[in-house]
Amino acid sequence: MKCETYERGEIGMSEKRNIAVIVGSLRKESFCRKSALALAELAPSNLSLSIAEIGQLSMYNQDLDDAPPAEWLAFRDTIRAADGVLFITPEYNRSVPACLKNAVDIGSRPYGKSAWDGKPGAVMSLTPGSQGAFGANHHLRQSLVCLNVLTMQHPEAYFSNASTYFGADGKLVNEETKKYFTRFIESYGKWVERLAQK
Ligand SMILES: Cc1cc2nc3c(=O)[nH]c(=O)nc-3n(C[C@H](O)[C@H](O)[C@H](O)COP(=O)(O)O)c2cc1C
Repeated sequence: MKCETYERGEIGMSEKRNIAVIVGSLRKESFCRKSALALAELAPSNLSLSIAEIGQLSMYNQDLDDAPPAEWLAFRDTIRAADGVLFITPEYNRSVPACLKNAVDIGSRPYGKSAWDGKPGAVMSLTPGSQGAFGANHHLRQSLVCLNVLTMQHPEAYFSNASTYFGADGKLVNEETKKYFTRFIESYGKWVERLAQK
């Protein structure tokens, strides 16, 4: 299949890439979850984004590797079936929340059969604070290198002051933020296509 251009609305291809979105917060009013939903709306026509839930995953325990809980198996299947993985994470104590690291670890096993291997990935980090959750973003990237997730480098996506982004309806209120989210997800659309062509 040939894809001439990856610009929004101009993609000359019929195939949709299914992207598993992993949201690193379990909070109902999570800014990361709202961002995931906003990105799904702004996504270019070659991407279809769905959240791969992680809140139901019990804590990884290597003793269970021979008889893994059903929810681990289902999560691994979801990631294996995806054409790409998009992480949207808050920062907890300059790293990622435990629920997200747990999901990364569960997807990485059994040894040699990681569900993450070779997936085109991207990372967005957010905080209501002022430092863009840079620490979380790069801690996560360290694991993604180990797991051979082919993570997009640019545009970098560290978002500060996230509590000001959303209206009461959970939608983005700020044009500048919408523009940057759009640029990010369009770049990711191109990244996924580029790797899919190989
Ligand atoms: C345990 C904990 C640790 C946190 N550590 C940081 C931190 O290191 N840096 C930061 O910018 N915000 C930190 N925060 C604030 C989170 O960024 C904030 O709660 C954010 O809204 C969480 O993302 P969410 O809205 O998607 O749930 C921390 C919050 C909690 C609960």
